Amino acid sequence: MVTRSVLLGCGSALPRTVVTNDALVARGVETSHEWIVQRTGIAQRYIADGDEKTSDLATSAARAALAQAGVDVGVVDLVIVATTTPDNVFPSTAARVQGNLGITRGFAFDVQAVCSGFVYALTMADNFIRLGQAQTALVIGAETLSRLLDWSDRTTCVLFGDGAGAVVLQSAQGAGTVADRGLLSTHLHADGSQYDHLFVDGGVGSTGTFGFLRMDGREVFRHAVTRLSEVVDEALAANGLTAEAVDWLVPHQANRRIIEGLAKKLHLPEERVVMTIAQHANTSAASIPLALATAIGDGRIQKGQLILMNAMGGGFTWGAALVRV
Ligand code: ACO
Repeated sequence: MVTRSVLLGCGSALPRTVVTNDALVARGVETSHEWIVQRTGIAQRYIADGDEKTSDLATSAARAALAQAGVDVGVVDLVIVATTTPDNVFPSTAARVQGNLGITRGFAFDVQAVCSGFVYALTMADNFIRLGQAQTALVIGAETLSRLLDWSDRTTCVLFGDGAGAVVLQSAQGAGTVADRGLLSTHLHADGSQYDHLFVDGGVGSTGTFGFLRMDGREVFRHAVTRLSEVVDEALAANGLTAEAVDWLVPHQANRRIIEGLAKKLHLPEERVVMTIAQHANTSAASIPLALATAIGDGRIQKGQLILMNAMGGGFTWGAALVRV
């Protein structure tokens, strides 16, 4: 017998305001709906209003995940929030979410791995659970990334959106085979030599300002396709599986063309790929749990199915997770 982290429920939350591509044009961004859709697959994004904080979105997503899991908030002993846009520099957004939920036990912290944040956070929660240091974890990806956007830079501002997604993981015993429910394995990587391809040009320890998101899109695109397919191969090989065993690919939603390239490499038909980029745009650490919640919510993902998640983001960081729901 082995300890597994079983995914019992998933929830999501979006800001109240939808901003379509045409609305961006109307706001003065020098772009077009056609360009954005053709290059990225994005049709709209949700943008947080001034009174909507990352912790508000995270808390709503966490409540929805707990409700779907049928788990009482009182048993949660670990809260991890993956975010690049915390409410404050400190305390962590996880501490705020924990407080909002009325949890005073266990431990809580944030993870910063940009777009890979959810896979990193999931890995940490899984490791704590398998070590017996936590029993029931809330793993949340939440962002108000719009606050880091330079609206005069059309090469970046059209790509991102705000939102949150959360999952509840709980310790359970499994047989130690790939038929077990729960996380089968997780795989993380980073290569700090690529720091300058995707970064924010400010910070409390450098400029004393927030800064704006800056990106060399072509370089990110080139690395993303290679790194994501490598880490997927690694995850499948670690479990003695081939892509045929995967029921659903739930990838980070950065660009439709990156996702399609990956699915093609894996010989996974479109019908087995969850794609929410058209509605949500790139919500960084929130994108995978948002996509997961969408596909569980509309009944596409069924209990017992094998899900492959992967992501790449600034750092560069990247990773993958295989989970049987
Ligand atoms: N609207 C209209 N035209 C634009 C826009 C825009 N929003 N942005 C750029 N252009 C123009 C450029 O100025 C350029 O014009 P030029 O040829 O006259 O110089 C032309 O469009 C082509 O620009 P490219 O940068 O070559 O366009 P490309 O096809 O590479 O697409 C994109 C750009 C969408 C950013 C792509 O490189 C990409 O998706 N990269 C991956 C980046 C990514 O997803 N990052 C997310 C964060 S990391 C992650 O989550 C993996």
